[in-house]
Amino acid sequence: MQTHEIIRRFTEHFRGRGHTVVPSASLILDDPTLLFVNAGMVQFKPYFLGEAPAPYPRATSIQKCVRTGDIDEVGKTTRHNTFFQMAGNFSFGDYFKEGAMANAWELLTNSQDDGGFGFDPDRLWVTVFEKDEEAAALWQKVTGIPAERIQTRGPEDNYWDMGVPGPGGPCSEIYYDRGPAYGAEGGPVVDEDRYIEIWNLVFMQDIRGELAPKEGHPPIGELPTKNIDTGMGVERVACLLQGVENVYETDLVRPVIAKAEELSGRRYGDNEEDDVRFRVIADHARSGVLLVGDGVTPGNEARGYVLRRLLRRIVRSVRLLGVQQPVLAEFARVVRDAMAPTYPELVGEFDRIESVMRNEEEAFLATLTAGSKIFDVAVAETKKTGGETLAGDKAFQLHDTYGFPIDLTLEMAAEQGLSVDEQGFRDLMSEQRRRAKEDAKSRKTGHGDLSTYRTLLDQHGTTEFIGYTDLQSHSRVLGLLVGGQPATRAAAGTEVELVLDRTPFYAEGGGQIADTGKLVGPGVSVEVNDVQRAVPGLFVHKGKVLEGELGVDTTLETAVDRNRRESIERSHSATHLVHAAVRSAYGKRAAQAGSLNSPGRMRFDFTAPSAVDADVLAGVEEEVNDYLQTDVEVDAYTTTMDRAMELGAMALFGEKYGDQVRVVDMGDYSRELCGGTHVPRIGKLGVVKLVSDSSVGTGVHRVEALVGMDAMRHISKEHMLVNQLAEQFKVPADDLPDRIQGVVARLRNAEKELAQLRTAQVLNSAGELADKATDVHGVTVVAEQVPDGVDGGSLRALAGEVRGRLGSRPAVVALFSADEGKVSFVVGTNEAARDSGLAAGKLVPSFAEQVGGRGGGKPDMAQGGGSNPAGITAAVGALRKGVEQAVA
Ligand code: ALA
Repeated sequence: MQTHEIIRRFTEHFRGRGHTVVPSASLILDDPTLLFVNAGMVQFKPYFLGEAPAPYPRATSIQKCVRTGDIDEVGKTTRHNTFFQMAGNFSFGDYFKEGAMANAWELLTNSQDDGGFGFDPDRLWVTVFEKDEEAAALWQKVTGIPAERIQTRGPEDNYWDMGVPGPGGPCSEIYYDRGPAYGAEGGPVVDEDRYIEIWNLVFMQDIRGELAPKEGHPPIGELPTKNIDTGMGVERVACLLQGVENVYETDLVRPVIAKAEELSGRRYGDNEEDDVRFRVIADHARSGVLLVGDGVTPGNEARGYVLRRLLRRIVRSVRLLGVQQPVLAEFARVVRDAMAPTYPELVGEFDRIESVMRNEEEAFLATLTAGSKIFDVAVAETKKTGGETLAGDKAFQLHDTYGFPIDLTLEMAAEQGLSVDEQGFRDLMSEQRRRAKEDAKSRKTGHGDLSTYRTLLDQHGTTEFIGYTDLQSHSRVLGLLVGGQPATRAAAGTEVELVLDRTPFYAEGGGQIADTGKLVGPGVSVEVNDVQRAVPGLFVHKGKVLEGELGVDTTLETAVDRNRRESIERSHSATHLVHAAVRSAYGKRAAQAGSLNSPGRMRFDFTAPSAVDADVLAGVEEEVNDYLQTDVEVDAYTTTMDRAMELGAMALFGEKYGDQVRVVDMGDYSRELCGGTHVPRIGKLGVVKLVSDSSVGTGVHRVEALVGMDAMRHISKEHMLVNQLAEQFKVPADDLPDRIQGVVARLRNAEKELAQLRTAQVLNSAGELADKATDVHGVTVVAEQVPDGVDGGSLRALAGEVRGRLGSRPAVVALFSADEGKVSFVVGTNEAARDSGLAAGKLVPSFAEQVGGRGGGKPDMAQGGGSNPAGITAAVGALRKGVEQAVA
């Protein structure tokens, strides 16, 4: 069963049981306690904690996850992935243990014809938390599983929390027995390779404090409700249902290995050392692409560092497989194609992803070269003194500064007849690891220490926000941070963060971007370019001191950039109206899944029950614009959460709300809980123009709209464009679609015909080419350049034709074709040639360099491409040499 089908069945199973399908959150969802989203429950944390009312009692999601704690295990075991997909179902105070067990068991054991996964129930085992006798009894009652296959474990294995203060609870895991070939009898407590964990059911009921229940410390309280959080490992289930040995060989990961085989000419499965490299590449390529897709860029800290490490490990592993040229963009393409059905945004974002990959690889290849020089010098010095061992600190320097893995250094040293002081290297590594750990502990979250902000909040209380009514104020500087550290003064040119007693600046939140503007005091001015709530209630203004010296306690005149703010407000108000219109088209099933309000432009994501058709969106647009004409007043007021719910206000996905909430009404058309700022009357919006509609994940739609003058400009530009086209095609504008469709169809037919003609012509030349055969050490060789522009498929067919005419003596055919600065080539061998040790795939490296390319394939036929048509003649010569050497 393909992975996409597993995901589909999971989603349908839970959708059919009353769960709202919620899209995966971004890998970098803003939770300051986490580096990356590492479980399905992360986006639901506020609902478990009771910080926000759950918008639905039950939910299901397929969450992208990254966990890099075990990065060194990747490729070595069967089940460690840095990127994986967690399929989960969640209950917020709705069903509990019994429901979770029944739901999971049914999906796992229902036959595949019935929409299940068809696992044999006799091979499933479960574990329960030692103090949870209720769970053990329920498992037997609900599923009929015999007591022998229920094992109890301590908190270390069967208590789950996020590793930080937050929700937690005892858990129960479902395992599948892969059979005696994989390890000892005795259930998961004996062998977790044979008994592989596929699903974890967490009975979320506790609040965990600083100290971990896993280590025996009791939870510090109970959650307001009893909840369910589960996670099924999609890759692990795929591995089992596809009958492959490990998660790297599943349908969505294996193609990357295939690409690496093609590039390197080596084969996966030939030796364990290379296999680990293949798997590292496959795993890291996925994590890398998905992380870049979600906006992480390589860097030297926190998230960027993790990404950099992943990407560099790919490049190094590829080098160790003998490939020299850049590869990341190629792998990225393979990952995109495999993953796009679930994450279509990878397609839209691909240009950006590709360029990030290329840049990072270039940068690393540059240090790789510099590192090689250091290495050469170290080797020369070692040899000069008669030594045979490269010093550990050199290996460490290469690792630390130039990113050389020890394996690379070991291999390179061996080529020079030297060994490496590995012990010395390892000592330095563990020393560094110890330092890194201490560092991480002190930084805790990996992105900034929040304690400074907490202290400011404790000292001064929350920031008073006056920006609903005022865009200017006199405000006092309460706190100043430079480089994340408290400071009392900051000179001109310094980047600062500052906290004021009150502020008109809106801090980013609820989809509305932050205000920008200026702060001016006696002899000092500061430009504000971002405002964030670093901890709840504390507004942190980020910017730069433009002139003078800024000090704590100074009183400043603040001024928000008014035009920009008003433009953002128009977008935000438009979002509410679009939301209301989408609701009126689709009903309650369409839930808001995210939004972004920036100047002149808004973006709104929502879950749609089915495909969204153009008519419906046109209706949404019409309804919104129609309503703008009522020019109703926008009314914002504060009330209790209960009252707001009574009034039917829409609470938004992922937002946290307190007891007192702010409600924004636009007539009787829209009523939402919202902390953002809005236009005074909706007539100010002028016009709202939907400009794009796309799908951003399973069941999630995104509409983007322009507002006001931006919308107007867009419309007038499109109008001009249509006029131009109408003129060029010489038809009235209304007839354009038909006319263009006709032209495109004719063009396609012509191209098809042309291609057929070309192929026929090319195939006709087979006899002529066979006549050009020459003898190379008893091998019949045809190595020729054919006319330009023959595509890979035709080239292959032609090579096959030629090969068929060369008789039964060993024969090799190599054909090249140039096309606009590119080269395609094909190498084929007949059976007699293969018997005498000539494999097509192995011959490719003998000439690929000459045409600036690469390629690979099977022993009978190999194919590839390059970028240097001028080198074809040289390649022909090199191939002959290659044949000569192979038979010699
Ligand atoms: N949150 C649970 C886990 O990650 C399901 O295993």
